[in-house]
Amino acid sequence: MPRTNNLVFTPNFWVRMCRGAFPNLTMKTSIAIYPGSFDPVTNGHLDLIERGEKMFDRLIVAVLKNVEKEPLFSVSERVEMLRQVTKRWDSVEVDVFEGLLVDYARKRSAAVILRGIRAVSDYEYELQMALMNRKLEPRLETVFMLPGESYSYLSAKLVREIAKLGGPLAGLVPPLVEQRIRSKVS
Ligand code: PNS
Repeated sequence: MPRTNNLVFTPNFWVRMCRGAFPNLTMKTSIAIYPGSFDPVTNGHLDLIERGEKMFDRLIVAVLKNVEKEPLFSVSERVEMLRQVTKRWDSVEVDVFEGLLVDYARKRSAAVILRGIRAVSDYEYELQMALMNRKLEPRLETVFMLPGESYSYLSAKLVREIAKLGGPLAGLVPPLVEQRIRSKVS
């Protein structure tokens, strides 16, 4: 990579330079939103974030500010944990949204919604959501990715249940999340 004194010219620097010099040149930046409740973030979510991070220039993990009756973690706790466990990826950002996902995607100039499909049972709900989002905003594409097969049975809902009943959580959530769960339910 070219270096001048201590400045390192990253590939992104050159992209920005070219855009400035040739504004009509089409160089797409793919921004994807990975929306969800993330109560709490699981290893399955992290697996998908890792896959999405490789595929898109920017990945926004967007936590829905919903009015869930009995969440395990508050939205700000979820965001804080997500930030901790994704800090190794520069192109991953964690944010909060409320209202329609399509409105949030427009606001963030995202062209893609990323969702994971673990098993056939996810498909119906995901299809319905993707098609409704397409109806609301035809320019927005939903991209489905498969998490690693070892996470195919893992869900935040089951993690919450195991946590409340004092079961083992190792391997299901990142160690930091496991600690936070333990201190919350003990
Ligand atoms: O992790 P989840 O709970 O399966 O995520 C569901 C989520 C947040 C993606 C979905 O509920 C959503 O997008 N809610 C925002 C409101 C909205 O846009 N509803 C119409 C979707 S078709």
